[in-house]
This record gives sequence, structure tokens and C-alpha cells, in this order.
Amino acid sequence: MSWLERWDRQQEVYIRDRERRYDAMLAFLEDLAPKDPVVLDLAAGPGSTAVRVLDRLPGTRCLAVDVDPVLQRLGKDAYGDAGGRLTWVTADLRDPSWPSALGVDGVDAVVSTTALHWLRPEELTPLYRTLRELLAASGGPFLNGDHLPFPRETPRIGAAAERVDQARRDAAVEAGAEDWAAWWDALRADPALAAEHAAREALWPADGRGSAAASLAYHQAALDAAGFAESAIVWQDLDERVLLALP
Ligand SMILES: C[S@@+](CC[C@H](N)C(=O)[O-])C[C@H]1O[C@@H](n2cnc3c(N)ncnc32)[C@H](O)[C@@H]1O
Repeated sequence: MSWLERWDRQQEVYIRDRERRYDAMLAFLEDLAPKDPVVLDLAAGPGSTAVRVLDRLPGTRCLAVDVDPVLQRLGKDAYGDAGGRLTWVTADLRDPSWPSALGVDGVDAVVSTTALHWLRPEELTPLYRTLRELLAASGGPFLNGDHLPFPRETPRIGAAAERVDQARRDAAVEAGAEDWAAWWDALRADPALAAEHAAREALWPADGRGSAAASLAYHQAALDAAGFAESAIVWQDLDERVLLALP
């Protein structure tokens, strides 16, 4: 199995219905984006969402933005530029100048998966403002598939959902699945990626796993403050949700 196949299996430990989540996101993208869109995959990692978008919407071009040199290298090695349809962009979303790395003034849609919970809540509002600006001309959708926690007002429901989720993760690992730490440990032993690993260590102290998750209500308030006109959940399994926002 390739590193990226192993990445997909590893991600499914945390998002059991990951492919169904992609299917829902792509269906909304198909419905709401203009024809032959330019789609921005935000915190794309190895391009997981971008390559599924390119497969499903043949006229699309994707910009895959991420800051992690290891994951980007895996994506570049596996997909290259996908016949001129995929552009890899290295940028840190916490740096307000990140859009200047895109090489375009606007995009027709923005997608993101399992990533924005790495950002601190206060970093989301400026990011959403930038997305609103990038989508201003097209009026296209922003689809965020991520871990969006239950609100503080429902603590017992949130705790029960966490127990159900943990039981699923334990069962997957017991059945032999590789978890996040095991996948990274295995990858770190690949000498071909030594330079990228060294750069990554400087980027993410400890194991690099983000955990500063803002609640769903916070995301919606931040989208609202950024000028998005509508936002709603269009898919959900426990606290894995797809939040769709329209400018
Ligand atoms: C769990 S991975 C998800 C990757 C991919 N979207 C997927 O679903 O397979 C989270 C990604 O968010 C990226 N990320 C986190 N914080 C970021 C930031 N400030 N700027 C750019 N990328 C970031 C990480 O580098 C990593 O690739």
C-alpha cells in the first residue's frame, strides 16, 4: 500500500464515513459552483480533497494550499500537476499575506477537510474574511468538512458523542488500522523524506496535531462576521460535519 493509501486508511480511523463526507461535499460543489471552476483546497495536505474534486468535475482546476512539506511532497510525488489542472501552493494560513501566493485574485469555490480545527478560533475570522473576498466575484460556495464540536450548552450529548467516537477509533485500531501516530512514525523512517521531515519538525512542535477546535456556533458566527450570507450543516456524523457557506 502506498503512503497515500495508508494516509486515507489512517484518516478513516477518525472519520469513519470519510468517503461519504466527500461525496456530499462534491455533490454540493457540483450544484453550486460555476462551470469549469477554479477550486481552492485549503490546508490540502497531500491533496486529498483536490484530487477527488478533479476526478468528479472534469473541467475543474485546483489550487492545493498547505504549509506541511512532508504532506505536500507526498501529494506532488503521487499526482504531479494532474495534467496541468493541479497547482501546489506552499503557504501558512496564519500569515495574512497567504493569498498572494495563489497567483489569482479570486476563486470559484473553496473546499477544506479535517484541517481548520488546527487554527485557533481567533484565526478563523480573518481567514473567513479572506475567503469571502476570494469568492466575491464568483459568488461560489465554501465547503468545510471538519470536526466541529457540540456546543457547551449540551455537555452530556457532547460527552456521549465523544465516547461513541472513541469506541469506533478503538475498534478500528484493534482491527489493525494504523492511527495518526503510527502512520507518522512509519513515515519518519523513510530516508527519502528526511529533508521534509526536518523542515516539518521546525514547523509543528511536538507531533503537530492541531486541537484548538472552535465550536460549530463559533464557526457560523465567524462566517457571519466575515460577510457570508448563509451557512448551514449539510452532512453530519457525530461531530464530523460539512458546513456550507454562501457569500
Ligand atoms: C489532518 S490534515 C488534512 C489534510 C487533507 N485536507 C485531508 O483531509 O486529507 C490537516 C492539514 O492542515 C494543514 N494545516 C494546518 N494548519 C495550517 C496552516 N496554518 N496553514 C496551512 N496548512 C495548515 C496541515 O499541514 C495538514 O496538511
